[in-house]
Amino acid sequence: MKNIAIFASGTGSNFIAIHDAILDKELDVNIKVLISDKPHSIAVKNAELRNINTFTFNPKEYKNKQEFELEIINHLNNVDLIVLAGYMRIIGPTLLNKFKNKILNIHPSLLPKYKGMDAVGQALKDNATLTGVTVHYVDSGMDTGLIIDQESLMIYPNETRESLEKRIHQVEHKLYKKVIKKVIEELS
Ligand code: GRF
Repeated sequence: MKNIAIFASGTGSNFIAIHDAILDKELDVNIKVLISDKPHSIAVKNAELRNINTFTFNPKEYKNKQEFELEIINHLNNVDLIVLAGYMRIIGPTLLNKFKNKILNIHPSLLPKYKGMDAVGQALKDNATLTGVTVHYVDSGMDTGLIIDQESLMIYPNETRESLEKRIHQVEHKLYKKVIKKVIEELS
């Protein structure tokens, strides 16, 4: 069975959706480790509750990105695919070179629209009527890697951020497991 590592720093709802899909036997992978730069995040708490190995670190305790990425790599033995799920850092060359075309990210917009931070806020500010979710391979840019799959979502008139975020998360949870399944099958 292939091993994945999930990188998460927030609430980890995507991590939970992926783990639930594994428990429900929809997804045939093993979560080897959850990596986080936020030791006190809800994602880490949930990983511990679910008996998933974790490695957490404080970036401020390292000289630079290369140093903490080297340490992360020590925790990625036998990992076939990295799944970013709310890890809010640009991946540096140390990890990118070691996991070439083996890092996925999920982003809450129809890329290439609304790259970077607060994509939901950007769409609302723009009065967009359509947004969505993208899963893509990670390259050295910010949300610029090859797109694997996307799903669109209407933005309703007078929609609140809260309701849009909720609907985006629902789409993310379905789309990510579908793409992970496809990518893992291609690796086999
Ligand atoms: C998601 O909206 C994802 O698109 C973005 O970060 C958020 C993570 O959410 N990259 P969660 O922590 O999985 O709930």
